[in-house]
Amino acid sequence: MSLAIGAALLAASAANAAQVEVLHYWTSGGEAKSAQVLKQMLEQKGHTWVDFAVAGGAGANAMTALKTRVISGNPPAAAQIKGPAIQEWGDEGVLLSIDDVAKRENWDKLLPPEIASIMKYKGEYVGAPVNVHRVNWLWINADALKKVNAQPPSTWDDFFKVADALQKAGITPVAIGGQSWQQAEMFETVALGVGGAEFYRKAFVQLDQATLKGPTMVKALETFRKIKPYTDKGQTGRDWNMATGMVISGKAGMQFMGDWAKGEFSVANKVPGKDYLCVPGPGSRNAYTFNVDSFVFFKVKTPGVEKGQKDLASLLLSPQFQEVFNLNKGSIPVRQGMDLSKFDACAQKSEADFKSAGAKGTLVPSWAHDMIDKPSVEGAFYDVIGKFWNDDSETAQEAANKLAVAAKTD
Ligand code: BGC
Repeated sequence: MSLAIGAALLAASAANAAQVEVLHYWTSGGEAKSAQVLKQMLEQKGHTWVDFAVAGGAGANAMTALKTRVISGNPPAAAQIKGPAIQEWGDEGVLLSIDDVAKRENWDKLLPPEIASIMKYKGEYVGAPVNVHRVNWLWINADALKKVNAQPPSTWDDFFKVADALQKAGITPVAIGGQSWQQAEMFETVALGVGGAEFYRKAFVQLDQATLKGPTMVKALETFRKIKPYTDKGQTGRDWNMATGMVISGKAGMQFMGDWAKGEFSVANKVPGKDYLCVPGPGSRNAYTFNVDSFVFFKVKTPGVEKGQKDLASLLLSPQFQEVFNLNKGSIPVRQGMDLSKFDACAQKSEADFKSAGAKGTLVPSWAHDMIDKPSVEGAFYDVIGKFWNDDSETAQEAANKLAVAAKTD
């Protein structure tokens, strides 16, 4: 290539290059590796990634940081937002439509309809999904289980037997971090396992008052509380990935966590089926709580950024990104029809269970991970569950009554 043509090409690509600031909360080992994939692929398109990472599992800190930036009139180009919060940002009039990209690339055909509708505001795509995380998983250290001569539990009775045995063997049975979203997530999985998908849907999707304070909810809360003596004293403020680290090292036997936990096992070079096991939470084998990460794009004043935003949107749904990103993240591709032969046994199971739960009507969104309720209701649920976990004097019926009140939060 002649020097002149080279220089002209460079100038052309520089003219199309944008600085794309991306807000996300992927800062643990496995998460950061996944975010890195995104950064590299965006940079291959000639744009510059401006990292706006805000640590804090499940993203509450990131959402606070985002509000401050939007209110001051200086939003990032893209932000990791999901569920009904996308509609709330749409109502503020600050989101960029990416419907032209979606139409060109036929997203309506590539995405399950339940997920496509979450990404649209007033009929136009404003969000791009990247994955499907399953939340109702139990992660188990295989050696710890062998040590107590037990099988992975599939019922609550078995679960408490295994927990007893681990405790006797000097292993913390259940790893958890004392943060309200982790408590809420564990409770969500317990409630699904105790009450089933129909109960779950009535309580958390329909916010049915009688179900929220009824006997099945009370039983779920009692089961949740029964787990507490099997957790350790050092849990206050612990991050979720530190809790996963306890299972990886064998200090703890089990953890209830979505499959972003698998990203941590992978970074530690652990192999599913050999070093650790992934099984659905007790009682929830036939059901599936889903959590879809997505990015939305904000209208920004700087000229040229829109090109970068749209290139990013297109990249997120591309087969190559969907594969590499999800291999690192622990989730499965949200793009339908992908070949999963490079994925491990946990991901293959997730995919098969996602499909069969969809067919059986037991596929439900995760409320603890922003997928159902308005952020205000979700926050009120977090508070009720956190208080109940921390205060042994509160009865399960009292907490259930509070859930019913919390469901009415504006
Ligand atoms: C997100 C995951 C993330 C996890 C822990 C969830 O709400 O969907 O992508 O890894 O929180 O931060």
